[in-house]
Amino acid sequence: MPTTLEVLFAPAEYTSMTGRDLRETVCVVFDVLRATSTMVTALGNGAAGIVPVAEIPEALSIRQRRPEVLLAGERDGVRIAGHLTGGSAFDLGNSPREFTAQRVRGRTIAMTTTNGTRALRACAPAAAVLLGSFLNLQATAEFIERQPHSHLLLVGSGTLDQTAYEDVLGAGALCDLLWPKYSSGAVADSALIARRLFRLEQNDLLGAVSKSRNGRRLMAHPDLREDMAFCVQRDLFRLVAEMGADGVVRGENPPAS
Ligand code: MLT
Repeated sequence: MPTTLEVLFAPAEYTSMTGRDLRETVCVVFDVLRATSTMVTALGNGAAGIVPVAEIPEALSIRQRRPEVLLAGERDGVRIAGHLTGGSAFDLGNSPREFTAQRVRGRTIAMTTTNGTRALRACAPAAAVLLGSFLNLQATAEFIERQPHSHLLLVGSGTLDQTAYEDVLGAGALCDLLWPKYSSGAVADSALIARRLFRLEQNDLLGAVSKSRNGRRLMAHPDLREDMAFCVQRDLFRLVAEMGADGVVRGENPPAS
């Protein structure tokens, strides 16, 4: 089966994906700072599932139907406050360090972030939608190697309407792991770019993400600064995170191969 590998850099690329046939495509969505890193952490710490939604009212309406659901997410990087909900603040923000086993074990979480949850929803028609991060890279790569499919599309969630440096690095790291499988097939130039960039930066990922727009924003926020070092840890969890046809992201812990 011919295989292709492509990376989407900018939000405009995934928001205009509606005309694209994704039925034989596996999408891996990266929001390294921080949505996919946070969701992977929540699942790694035992959350039952995550429902990514694009807007705050969707999360509130899930809570209304299911009061046991935790609400999580950010606007401008910080936890969604009461003035944005017309009532209470959300239970959690978008810092992976908040999603401890004590807070999330066994819980379902409805989550809305600026870019990450939007990118996930845009990929919903794909054959499979995985969540990528440095925290679960190896398990994700092994899962992809086991899945029969024609196209692998790595999607950078971006920062507002721009490409995010850290998402290109995350996608590039996955390209690097999967290169032997894809390099004899149709590799898009975007995958070449992402892989090359990752290889240039791989020895100082923290330094690299600190230069990014999102990284600079987190650096300026004393409570969030540590998130960057957390998010560049490699393979903290042996976890595959997949968004099912029901729109819920669940985690699976595959055995070491
Ligand atoms: C997003 O979804 O845009 C990001 O995760 C933003 C953030 O770092 O909170």
